[in-house]
Amino acid sequence: MFEAGHVYKRFTLANGEKVTLRVLRWEDLDGLLMFINSLVEEKRGDTESSLYTGFDRKVTREEEVEWLVQTLVAIEGENVINVVADINGKIIANGDVTRGSYKDTRHHGHLGLTVISKYRGQGIGRRMIETLVRESRRAGLRALDAEFLADNETARRAYEKASFKQAGIIPHKVFRNGRYFDGLIMAREL
Ligand SMILES: CC(C)(COP(=O)(O)OP(=O)(O)OC[C@H]1O[C@@H](n2cnc3c(N)ncnc32)[C@H](O)[C@@H]1OP(=O)(O)O)[C@@H](O)C(=O)NCCC(=O)NCCS
Repeated sequence: MFEAGHVYKRFTLANGEKVTLRVLRWEDLDGLLMFINSLVEEKRGDTESSLYTGFDRKVTREEEVEWLVQTLVAIEGENVINVVADINGKIIANGDVTRGSYKDTRHHGHLGLTVISKYRGQGIGRRMIETLVRESRRAGLRALDAEFLADNETARRAYEKASFKQAGIIPHKVFRNGRYFDGLIMAREL
């Protein structure tokens, strides 16, 4: 169930576009490069971007090769549970649960998820969280957390719908365009 390319789910958006939720595969390299660099552009161009940390500069193909190789190895070893959203072969979202790396934190996972701006608010993130929760439980995890900007209402609601509860606020976690923003952590048992 965790092998590269494995399909979890297919569904259709209100505008008729067909979405496939599946595990990453090696052939996604160029699609991923376009995906990640479109997020770098979003963060640079929009001072109100809801994107959290990361996405500081454009990623080269070599860097993406390295990231993809490491991630595919981690997926194979069940250290990462991954789901991407694919529309006509284009990657429009990526989500990962990364397991704790110590023996006594291996049952815990940190969830990270990003949908490109054009496709937000259409139920894709909610379905990806559901998939990651289900697959994490299947992999033996017992708890998950996620962290994002405290004023990101879409993220808060998406996680609330998946039974996450607010675990805490990190004051001034992010400094961007001359302003501080709080981070919000949500968590749940599995
Ligand atoms: C946070 C994120 C992953 C959510 O994915 P999404 O596909 O946009 O979310 P969904 O469309 O599934 O919305 C989830 C719920 O939030 C609510 N919601 C959607 N848009 C909203 C908005 N603009 N304001 C408030 N609530 C909203 C809805 O109740 C929705 O539930 P529904 O499916 O019953 O309508 C996505 O918006 C994103 O990538 N944001 C930027 C990156 C980020 O913040 N990642 C942090 C997560 S670790």
